[in-house]
Amino acid sequence: MAHLQIIKGDITKIPADAIVNAANTELKGGGGVDGAIHQAAGITALNAACAKLHGCPTGQAKVTPAFQLAAKIIIHTPGPIWRGGDNQEAKLLAACYHNSLQKAQEYHCQTVLFPSISTGVYGYPLHLAAPIAIHAIRSFPTDLSVQMVCLDEATYQAYLIADAAK
Ligand code: APR
Repeated sequence: MAHLQIIKGDITKIPADAIVNAANTELKGGGGVDGAIHQAAGITALNAACAKLHGCPTGQAKVTPAFQLAAKIIIHTPGPIWRGGDNQEAKLLAACYHNSLQKAQEYHCQTVLFPSISTGVYGYPLHLAAPIAIHAIRSFPTDLSVQMVCLDEATYQAYLIADAAK
């Protein structure tokens, strides 16, 4: 079972083997955590590496080097856009966490940082996303050490509550 810690902070400032990026399907960079990761890694180098991947379907995960970030790799995973909940959002969100952890394992990473996928621009309600994320991480069968990195207090509290309820 993966070991999980919920912390408050900026994901680009914490060293780890792998950093997960809440990407878009074109892997073209954007705002939010995606923008912050591109800035910190080095926009030109990361854009060039992403361009070689030819996008990524929602719920899947693809890997690039981490360039100037204090990590070995970045795992890019596009979360689902919230469209009311009847469009496989929950299944796709769980797949983001599962497939990202699988990539981390494939690349022999021991420590992985996640942002709160889909709960920003993509509009996934925090109180629904947090339990899905926690369950997907806690049920993943490895001894990976995972940190859920929450930028703001509301996100931090939602993940703490979801974890306490497990
Ligand atoms: N560290 C940790 N968390 C962060 C950081 C950061 N530096 N910056 C933003 N966040 C948080 C947001 O506060 C939010 O809780 O990441 C969470 C996810 O929000 P978004 O970045 O908006 O991601 P998402 O909802 O998955 O939307 C993805 O946004 O910028 C685009 O290219 C991206 O199109 C894609 C979309």
